[in-house]
Amino acid sequence: MARKIVITSGKGGVGKTTICANLGFALAKQNNRVVLVDVDIGLNNLDVVTGIENKIVFDIVDVIEGKCRTKQALVQDLDQPNLYIMPSAHSYNKAQVTAENVKKVVDSLNDFFDFVLIDCPAGIDEPFKRAVFGADEAIVVVTPHLSSMRDADKVLLMLSDYNIKDYSLVVNRVRGDMIMDKEMMDSAKIAEILDVRLSGIIPEDDNITTLLGVGKTVNKNCESFDAFFMLAKNILGETDKLFDCTEKYKGIVGFFKRAIRRKI
Ligand SMILES: Nc1ncnc2c1ncn2[C@@H]1O[C@H](COP(=O)(O)OP(=O)(O)OP(=O)(O)O)[C@@H](O)[C@H]1O
Ligand SMILES: [Mg+2]
Repeated sequence: MARKIVITSGKGGVGKTTICANLGFALAKQNNRVVLVDVDIGLNNLDVVTGIENKIVFDIVDVIEGKCRTKQALVQDLDQPNLYIMPSAHSYNKAQVTAENVKKVVDSLNDFFDFVLIDCPAGIDEPFKRAVFGADEAIVVVTPHLSSMRDADKVLLMLSDYNIKDYSLVVNRVRGDMIMDKEMMDSAKIAEILDVRLSGIIPEDDNITTLLGVGKTVNKNCESFDAFFMLAKNILGETDKLFDCTEKYKGIVGFFKRAIRRKI
């Protein structure tokens, strides 16, 4: 039986797809069978982020419309044999692509995977419902900005209308230098305000998209690499450690790093 986790946020552009892809990679690397399902139908970009756009033959809409079997729409990661992606489509028939039909596809992945990670579109309307309906857990992504926190709060309230048994918060794009200088809210404080368990902290990282191993070299020197592995271990229930974005900005060396970063 797979754990079906929707990655959602309300606000657009906060890092749902990035977190879905990189968390999936980290879980697969730790010997879990993982499938990433792109439910951002019409505005899909999980295929681009994971570098599989040229390998797509069928997509989730084809599965729903009965044009192929579930397995035929799965694209295997080049580096991680445990990691698969079910791509989304650019266009679709609204009458057929319902929350119930998306759930059927998600359920059909149950026996083959340990994790089904569902990449949710932005917003809280019908596309949100389509993505959340088939999940039994949620990760709510937020950035340390008021507008993102407000939307996350709305989403957390809405999750109670669905069959979500467990949910947690991931704070993305955290800048340790700004936290040290009291210009950005601390992630623990964000979780306290939203009254939700914090399962991950991901730093602001210019190299973040190069993390995935799909036909590319995994960049283990990325700061976010460790953060995603910590998040994966927390999701697996093995640890409850959080990435400390302020660590490298502490002490006298950290003081100069902060000063340099300010000038960039
Ligand atoms: N921790 C990070 N550090 C630096 N850049 C990031 C980080 N997380 C995400 N980004 C960048 O932010 C942009 C938006 O990310 P992403 O597409 O994952 O957001 P999204 O929530 O899925 O957006 P949408 O709501 O449109 O689906 C991308 O260019 C991505 O590379
Ligand atoms: Mg996205």
